[in-house]
Amino acid sequence: MTQLLTLTSSPNSEASISTALVERFADGLRQKHGDLTHTQRDLGVNPPPHLDQATIGAFYTPSDALTPEQTDIIGLSDELVEELEAADIIVIGAPMHNFGLASGLKAWVDHVLRVGWTFRYTENGPEGQLKGKQVYVVTARGGDYAKSSPIHALDHQAPYLKTVLAFIGLDDVTFIHAQGVAKGEEGIRAAEAQIDAITRGEPDEQAA
Ligand SMILES: Cc1cc2nc3c(=O)[nH]c(=O)nc-3n(C[C@H](O)[C@H](O)[C@H](O)COP(=O)(O)O)c2cc1C
Repeated sequence: MTQLLTLTSSPNSEASISTALVERFADGLRQKHGDLTHTQRDLGVNPPPHLDQATIGAFYTPSDALTPEQTDIIGLSDELVEELEAADIIVIGAPMHNFGLASGLKAWVDHVLRVGWTFRYTENGPEGQLKGKQVYVVTARGGDYAKSSPIHALDHQAPYLKTVLAFIGLDDVTFIHAQGVAKGEEGIRAAEAQIDAITRGEPDEQAA
């Protein structure tokens, strides 16, 4: 049984390009893996709350010392981490907002980087604890931030996501970018072709 987790993060649920691409990805994976089970989390429509003092306090409290109130406060965070732990394949939909992540996806990051759980401090430094999972990130951005583009350095979305995912051990990450969607459909078609090639098991020539 292959477990797929999809995370979408566009607040623009009906017309979202990244969400449509994630759905296409899930359809393709469903055809590829006959035994797929699929958990979906929409972080755009139902964003996790911003971290507050009580939540941070509970994150840094040992599990055997948590009060019932603290256990309740971190219930959603626990659920989000458990979804990640259960997944074999994770597909993340990421609209570019103001050169970075949509705030719902950033809030999710804040809830799943859990000290002592998804990462630990060891004598060799921090060590990510989630291993052996395949991650795909599908972005949509109005501009074109490809390596050859003059605005490439303004992409604070993909490098940031790569860093935080690697920090919790998710280091097998493939990015699929729908670039320049404000100017036309070419970037969307290219992303669709890349997704179809991946789900058909063809070599991914765009992988960077
Ligand atoms: C609040 C907001 C901020 C945006 N910021 C950027 C940006 O910094 N750079 C960019 O290229 N496009 C930006 N865009 C355009 C989106 O990246 C583009 O519309 C993309 O399709 C959003 O993904 P979605 O269709 O899945 O919601 C922004 C759009 C919104 C609504």
